Amino acid sequence: TTVEWEAESYDMGGHDTYMHKEIHEQAEAVDRALRGRIDDRFSTVHLGGLNLDARDARAVRRVKILGCGTSYHAGQIGAQMIEELARIPADAEPASEFRYRNPVVDPDTLYIAVSQSGETYDVLAAVQELKRKGARVLGLVNVVGSAIARETDGGIYVHAGPEVCVVSTKCFTNMVVSFGLLALHLGRTRDLSVADGKRIIEGLRKLPGQIEEILANEEQIEKLAGEYADAKSMMFIGRVRGYPVAREASLKLKEVSYIHAEAYPASELKHGPLALIEPAMPTVAIVPDDELLEKNRAALEEIKARSGRILAVAHQEQEKADHTIVVPKNEDELDAILMGIPLQLFAYYTAKAMGRDIDKPRNLAKSVTVE
Ligand code: AGP
Repeated sequence: TTVEWEAESYDMGGHDTYMHKEIHEQAEAVDRALRGRIDDRFSTVHLGGLNLDARDARAVRRVKILGCGTSYHAGQIGAQMIEELARIPADAEPASEFRYRNPVVDPDTLYIAVSQSGETYDVLAAVQELKRKGARVLGLVNVVGSAIARETDGGIYVHAGPEVCVVSTKCFTNMVVSFGLLALHLGRTRDLSVADGKRIIEGLRKLPGQIEEILANEEQIEKLAGEYADAKSMMFIGRVRGYPVAREASLKLKEVSYIHAEAYPASELKHGPLALIEPAMPTVAIVPDDELLEKNRAALEEIKARSGRILAVAHQEQEKADHTIVVPKNEDELDAILMGIPLQLFAYYTAKAMGRDIDKPRNLAKSVTVE
């Protein structure tokens, strides 16, 4: 298959695994996703293959994003960005669930299929069903010319470059960046101001440098992975923008280390999962410095009161946490792009400490092209 061909011809460049190499390619990959797309004159972006003129863009009443696994999580962040920047109601759903529940297909909804490979069968089947019912479907895809790229009406290539490790890292980041571009574009055809457009563009431009800063902190993350590798199970929490980040980080840890992990919205803890909290069940908390900071701090206090160990990913040291990984602050709407990156390294080093087969976790394939 294509993936095997890539694996043979794609140099490891001194890294011990493709996962490690691909994590380290992210600044460059994001730079590629932005290149040639920013329009400073109108504080917007140009997305060549979108096939959606301003009139079409304004006619969109809803956005529905479909994908599987990591691509679904990228879609969850994308939906929030579209709601925040373009004020269009948006949500994401696993493509497999969508296609099996005989969905109501609405002509005023813009559907977006997200996929690294562009070959995931559940996503492709959802696209075909939507097309058959007359919907407009865009693709947000990495592999150029793949089945989903061909079957959609237009879309955005995320330009992450070849991703060989079964576990997606750099492609996830580029998907989320691409959603940021799309949200900005839709926003600027509607009510997003020039000033806000400019602010988001400045934030996007800062990303590659900030990714380098996060990766420069690798030693701290490696040490922390050693501290938590004895856990049988871990809890990941986040609120609103941080929740899909928590979900993706928990999937990453599960896939490569086989440690059981659960992701919950921080606000749901008290509705059940708090019962699990004890010293043997550490929590990874996403704590961005935004309007929800105090709420998130309160959740850390609740966990501490039950003697839970806490690793926070935050923009400043968290007093209630046992450890904090500090990441650089971007614009509130874009913070989710960066906050999961240290947790990719965390998953990698945990798996490495446990001697796992990092690039080819048991029972998994890079793309699931069957039902
Ligand atoms: C990612 O780490 C996973 N291995 C998996 O969830 C993947 O994202 C999913 O199968 C979708 O693949 P796609 O992006 O190629 O459609």
